[in-house]
Amino acid sequence: MALSFFSFLFFFTCFSILQVPFFSTATLHKAALFRPKITTQLDFISKNDTPTTYFEVTKPIKLPKTKSCSYLVLKHDFASTYEKPPVQANYTPPSNCSSQKFSKIVLEWKAKSKGRQFDRIFGIWLGGVEILRSCTAEPRPNGIIWTVKKDITRYYSLLMTNQTLSVYIGNIVDSKYTGVYHVEFFFHFYPADKELILGNSGADLILPISRNLPLNDGLWFEIENSTDVQSKEFKIPQNAYRAVLEIYVSFHENDEFWYGNLPNDYITANNRTDIAGNGAFREVLVSLDGDVIGAIWPFTVIYTGGINPLLWRPISGIGSFDLPSYDIEITPLLGKILDGSSHNFSFSVTNALNVWYVDANLHLWLDKKSVKTEGKLLEYSSSPLSFSLASNFTGLDGSFATNAHRSISLTGWVKSSYGTVTTNSSQSLSYNNNIMMGNDANLQIVDQKVDFNDTVYAKTRSFPVQVLESFKKFRFHLYSDGVEIGDQSYASISNVTLIFNEKRLKRSKYGSSASSVHNLQKAQGYMFLKDQSIDSGLGSTQQTYKYDDDYSGCYFRNISSSNYTVLYDKVLNSCSKLST
Ligand SMILES: *[C@@H]1O[C@H](CO)[C@@H](O)[C@H](O)[C@H]1NC(C)=O
Ligand SMILES: *[C@@H]1O[C@H](CO)[C@@H](O)[C@H](O)[C@H]1NC(C)=O
Ligand SMILES: *[C@@H]1O[C@H](CO)[C@@H](O)[C@H](O)[C@H]1NC(C)=O
Ligand SMILES: *[C@@H]1O[C@H](CO)[C@@H](O)[C@H](O)[C@H]1NC(C)=O
Ligand SMILES: *[C@@H]1O[C@H](CO)[C@@H](O)[C@H](O)[C@H]1NC(C)=O
Ligand SMILES: *[C@@H]1O[C@H](CO)[C@@H](O)[C@H](O)[C@H]1NC(C)=O
Ligand SMILES: *[C@@H]1O[C@H](CO)[C@@H](O)[C@H](O)[C@H]1NC(C)=O
Ligand SMILES: *[C@@H]1O[C@H](CO)[C@@H](O)[C@H](O)[C@H]1NC(C)=O
Ligand SMILES: *[C@@H]1O[C@H](CO)[C@@H](O)[C@H](O)[C@H]1NC(C)=O
Ligand SMILES: *[C@@H]1O[C@H](CO)[C@@H](O)[C@H](O)[C@H]1NC(C)=O
Ligand SMILES: *[C@@H]1O[C@H](CO)[C@@H](O)[C@H](O)[C@H]1NC(C)=O
Repeated sequence: MALSFFSFLFFFTCFSILQVPFFSTATLHKAALFRPKITTQLDFISKNDTPTTYFEVTKPIKLPKTKSCSYLVLKHDFASTYEKPPVQANYTPPSNCSSQKFSKIVLEWKAKSKGRQFDRIFGIWLGGVEILRSCTAEPRPNGIIWTVKKDITRYYSLLMTNQTLSVYIGNIVDSKYTGVYHVEFFFHFYPADKELILGNSGADLILPISRNLPLNDGLWFEIENSTDVQSKEFKIPQNAYRAVLEIYVSFHENDEFWYGNLPNDYITANNRTDIAGNGAFREVLVSLDGDVIGAIWPFTVIYTGGINPLLWRPISGIGSFDLPSYDIEITPLLGKILDGSSHNFSFSVTNALNVWYVDANLHLWLDKKSVKTEGKLLEYSSSPLSFSLASNFTGLDGSFATNAHRSISLTGWVKSSYGTVTTNSSQSLSYNNNIMMGNDANLQIVDQKVDFNDTVYAKTRSFPVQVLESFKKFRFHLYSDGVEIGDQSYASISNVTLIFNEKRLKRSKYGSSASSVHNLQKAQGYMFLKDQSIDSGLGSTQQTYKYDDDYSGCYFRNISSSNYTVLYDKVLNSCSKLST
C-alpha cells in the first residue's frame, strides 16, 4: 500500500546532509521515514564503454568574434568534501590579455566522475558573491562528463578585482559511493570588438549577501523551518543611484519536492507524522530591516537524481546545471539605505521544512560624478499573502487544491547627476497547485502553475526613462504510480512535465526590445528499485527550447532521448520556418 506517495518522497537528491545509514532491517515504508536517496546500479553497462556526456539544453552564449583570453581558475578533485571548508583559490583579473575591455565573460565548468554517487548541490562564490548554483550529475560505472557554460558578464566589476574564489560541494566517498568529481573550471574573457565596447550595463559594485568565511560548508544561508530567519548586515556607498538584489535559491531534503508535499492535517489523520508535510506552497521572502520587500516563487528545478534519475540522462532537467537566480529591483528603497549606516537583508521561507539554501548579491550602480546621492521611499505596499487550501480526502486518497497570490510594490525617487528619477518596482505573483492521491496513495498526480510578474517603471518629473517588464510562467506536472514487489523492492512509473517560460520587455527613449524563452521538457520512465539502487528501468525525455530576442535573433532546439541515447536533435538558428 501507499507506495507512490512514499516513493515520491523517496527520492531526496542534491544531498547536503550526511547520508543516513541504510536499513537492512527496516521495511521499505520505514525506509521512507529516513528519506534515503537512490543511485543507479545498471550493471549491464560495460566498464569499457566510453563515458556518457550529460548536458542541459539551453541557448548558446552569443560571443564576440574576438579570441578569448582563457584562464584555468580551479582544478580540484572533490572526494570527501562534506562539511569541509569550501575549496579556495586566489583570483586575479586577466593581466596578459591584449585588451583590458571585455564584452563577454564566460564561466566554463568541466567535470568527470566514475562509479556510483549521489547528485550533490554546489555553489561558486567570488568574494562571497555567488556566481553559479548547480547540481552535479550522477556518475555511471563507465564514467560521465559534463560541461556547464554560464555568461557571467553581469559580474564584470567583481571580475576586474582580486578576489577569493570559493567552491563548495558536499561530497562523500566510501566503498559503495565511489564517485569523485574531477573538476576543472575556466573563465573566458572575450575582448570587446571595436564597435562593441561594453555598455555600462553591469553594476559598478556587487556586495555579497551571504555567510562570511570561514565556514565548513557553502556560503549560502540554511533555512530550516518556517520561522527561521537568516540575515546579513550590509552598508552601501552613499553615491548609489540604482540597486538590484539577485537571489539564489535551492531546496533540499524534506523540501526537495515541496510542490508535492501534503497538508499536515492529511498526515496527522493518517498517522504519518514521519513524512514531509507543510503542504505544497513555498515562497522565499526577502526583508529589508524587517519589512518584506520582495518574494521569490521558485521554479521547480529537479536535480539529476530526482523522481527517476533515468529521466535526466543524458538530457538534464531544466535549470539543474545552472539554477535560475531571481532579480528584485530595489532602487525605490535606496532612500532608506543611503545613510551610510548598516542595514539588514533577511530571508525566510514560508512553510519551509529543512532545508533551503538562500543567498543574494546586491548589484549597485554608483554615480561617478558625485559622492552623495539622495533618495526617498514614497510608497510601500506589501499585502499579506492571500492563500486558500481545499482538502478533500478519505484515508490516504483525496485531492488538495492550493491557491495563493501576493503583490508587492515599491515607489521612491533618487536624485543623482542623472537627475531625479522616480522608480516604481512591483511584483505580482499567483500560484495554483492541485494534488491528487489515489490507489491508497500508490498514485500521486501534481499540477502546479506559477505566474511571476515583475515591472519596473522609471521616470523623471515629466517623461519615462525606462520600463522593464518580466513575465514568468512556471509549470510542473507529475504523474507517479508505484507498487511494492518484494522486500525493499518496488517498481514505479513516472511522467513529468516542466515548463519555464519568460518574456521580457524593455522600453526607453532609445527604443524598445523584447526577448522570450519557451522551455518545455516532458519525461517518462519506469524503474525497478532494490536497496536504493535502480536494478533496471528506462527514461525518455523530449524537450523543445526556443529563445528569441530582437538583437541576437532566434534559437530553437528540438531534442529527444531514450535509454541514454539521443533520438533526434534539431537546431534552428532562425525561427521563420517554425509554425507557431
Ligand atoms: C596569462 O597568464 C596566465 C597566468 O597568470 C596564464 O595561465 C595564461 O595562459 C596567460 N594567457 C595568455 C593569453 O597568455
Ligand atoms: C592582485 O593580486 C596580484 C597577484 O597576487 C598582485 O600582484 C596585485 O598587487 C594585487 N592587486 C591588488 C590591487 O591588490
Ligand atoms: C527553526 O530553525 C531554527 C534554526 O535552526 C531553530 O533555532 C529553531 O528552533 C527552529 N524552530 C522550530 C520551531 O523548530
Ligand atoms: C500511529 O503510529 C504509531 C507509530 O507507528 C503507533 O504507535 C500508533 O499506535 C499509531 N496511532 C494510531 C492512532 O494509529
Ligand atoms: C540586523 O539584524 C541583527 C540580527 O537580527 C541585529 O542584531 C542587528 O541589530 C540588525 N542591524 C540593523 C542595522 O538593523
Ligand atoms: C470529495 O471527494 C469525493 C470522492 O472523490 C467526492 O465524491 C466529493 O464530491 C468531494 N467533495 C467535495 C466537496 O469536493
Ligand atoms: C506602482 O506600480 C503598481 C503596479 O503596476 C501600481 O499599482 C501602483 O499604483 C504604482 N505606484 C505608483 C506610485 O505609481
Ligand atoms: C502577469 O501579467 C500578465 C500579462 O499582463 C497577466 O495576464 C497576468 O494576469 C499577470 N499575472 C499576475 C500574477 O499578475
Ligand atoms: C506517461 O507517459 C507514457 C509514455 O509517453 C504514456 O504512454 C502514458 O499515457 C503517460 N501516462 C500518463 C498518465 O500521462
Ligand atoms: C520536434 O520533433 C519531433 C520529431 O521530429 C516532432 O514530432 C515535433 O513536432 C517537433 N516539435 C516541435 C515543437 O517542432
Ligand atoms: C537500454 O540500452 C541497453 C544497451 O545500452 C540495453 O541493454 C537495454 O536493454 C536497453 N533498455 C531498454 C529498456 O530498452
